[in-house]
Amino acid sequence: AIQRTFSIIKPDATERNLTGAVNAVIEKAGLRIIGQRRIKMTREQAERFYDVHKERPFFGELVDFMTSGPVVVQVLEGENAVKAYRDVMGATNPTEAADGTIRKLFAKSIGENSVHGSDSEENAAIEIAQFFSLADIVG
Ligand code: CMP
Repeated sequence: AIQRTFSIIKPDATERNLTGAVNAVIEKAGLRIIGQRRIKMTREQAERFYDVHKERPFFGELVDFMTSGPVVVQVLEGENAVKAYRDVMGATNPTEAADGTIRKLFAKSIGENSVHGSDSEENAAIEIAQFFSLADIVG
């Protein structure tokens, strides 16, 4: 089925001017970018977005990193978009990511791993609503 998922191009990628290169991999995978905005996340936004990880030892580092520079938030649409995007992102740890995936191509480390993608359709809807109003998504 056609689904939507939520994506973030993270500060390590925007800092290296890789927005277009990441988008090229996304589009080549058959996903359409139907919403996109470049923002600087506030601490409040990052803490809310990563609330499920707040007890993890890396939470502080994660929030620091995600607020360290510009990010590009995106809505992607396509056939089985949630899984399709996770497949093309590759494993969280770039040393374990398959060839041709965004993280294998671009990620620097498990923390500075260039992109985020939703892990379920339910979370995709929650995450999209955190950063987009309906008028800014044009499918
Ligand atoms: P993301 O998909 O954005 O969701 C949670 C993030 O936590 C994950 O990507 C990683 O970038 C980050 N993360 C996971 N494990 C670690 C770790 N050991 N150290 C730092 N960051 C991590």
